[in-house]
Amino acid sequence: MIETLIQKAIEQMKFSYAPYSNFKVGAALLSKDGQIFTGCNIENSAFGPSNCAERTAIFKAVSEGVRDFKMIALVGGKDGVIEDYCSPCGVCRQVMAEFCDLDEFQVIVAKSVKDYKVFCLGELLPEAFSPKTLGR
Ligand code: THU
Repeated sequence: MIETLIQKAIEQMKFSYAPYSNFKVGAALLSKDGQIFTGCNIENSAFGPSNCAERTAIFKAVSEGVRDFKMIALVGGKDGVIEDYCSPCGVCRQVMAEFCDLDEFQVIVAKSVKDYKVFCLGELLPEAFSPKTLGR
């Protein structure tokens, strides 16, 4: 399944809209019920409204009523060429913490289908402010 997700994330890079940074990112999110939601980064001339690939995937899923997730795979690179692992930005980590278990949700950062690293969300967002902080 990890390789499938990475492959889908790589395919998503072609839809990336990144005319300002030219850094193309693709993501593939696996829900607990086995669905895959993909996403790419979508930039904006005003910069602020830009959206990361991970959030695109998560928001697509949530907007379709799916909120329980197992893992997400992420790839990215300048001009769509993957040269290194692409780690999720802080905002995306926080959005993941809204819907995903810090100890169980896995974040896969990949250079290829065979070359990847797996983290649990809590490793990437230690001491998280999360729904639990607010008693949820
Ligand atoms: N980007 C993502 O899509 N995900 C991340 O977690 C890191 C950054 C995008 C945002 C922007 O379009 C480009 O990469 C350069 O920052």
